[in-house]
Amino acid sequence: MVIVTRRLPEPVHQALTREFDARLNPDDRPLTADGLRQALGTADALLTTVTDKLTADVLSAEPRRAKLVANFGVGFNNIDIEAAKARGIAVSNTPDVLTDATADLAMTLLLMVARRTGEGERHLRGGQWTGWRPTHMLGTHVTGKTLGLVGMGRIARAVAQRAHHGFGMKVIYHDPYPPPPEVARALGAEPRQTLEEVLREADFVSLHCPATPETRHLMNRDRLALMRPDAFLVNSARGDVVDEAALVDALTSRRIAGAALDVFEREPQVTQALTTMDNVVLLPHLGSATTETRVAMGMRAFENLQRFFSGQPLRDRVA
Ligand code: 8YV
Repeated sequence: MVIVTRRLPEPVHQALTREFDARLNPDDRPLTADGLRQALGTADALLTTVTDKLTADVLSAEPRRAKLVANFGVGFNNIDIEAAKARGIAVSNTPDVLTDATADLAMTLLLMVARRTGEGERHLRGGQWTGWRPTHMLGTHVTGKTLGLVGMGRIARAVAQRAHHGFGMKVIYHDPYPPPPEVARALGAEPRQTLEEVLREADFVSLHCPATPETRHLMNRDRLALMRPDAFLVNSARGDVVDEAALVDALTSRRIAGAALDVFEREPQVTQALTTMDNVVLLPHLGSATTETRVAMGMRAFENLQRFFSGQPLRDRVA
């Protein structure tokens, strides 16, 4: 039996109910920690999302039946991987299928903050637009500027492709596990030895690293201070990578020009100060939110469940 913690797109529900004894969540009410403990005790596998916090405490629930957590998403920082491993619970994710949608959204964020589109729309809808004028709501040019990528995995590479080949941007990156040089070259991306070099040089800094204990608050006060005062920070990765309080200070004191965020430290809570700043773009974790992508993610999680129940190795095992 599979417990599906959130409502998924209909084609995914159909596949799940056709193949398994699947307990769906049509009302889409998030499970509490106790609900997750119970689910681990009754199901053979759980299909979870970013909103399910599978902490060491939750995973230690006894008695436990579940042997697989098939997470819907490429990120899996909602799951304590070490605790899962220690208890012999396998974990899978859904890579690849959301790369393009998330890269598209990273470019959306970058363009929105550079060209002040959220601010412009609020202005118009608020009835404040009095007519065209040469100096009205001037933004920052994007074409030809330098994009600094923090991390150079699948999503960062797809962003580099768009930025370099689509927008003629110079792309620089730092990744402690860099791609083969020819891969980066094909994307027009130049490596930098350190993250700090990327931060000093870029007009736009876009974050594409996973949320791990090592990357928590990677963008702290000191690193934000290395960014140019006319540079923008773009985050479509995970909220934990940015110290949100330090970001508010950097924005308030104009040490950086703006930020565009799709993810937050305490989702769905957003630091109140950010919501009052016009040079900040805020989206509600929409990175992979296209119908096509969410169906593909669901089918990828489904495939992992199928393999698990038929005794085959998981395709996307992360623990
Ligand atoms: C998902 C994501 O919306 O895949 C990820 O890591 O952040 C998003 O695509 C979310 O994780 C769903 O669980």
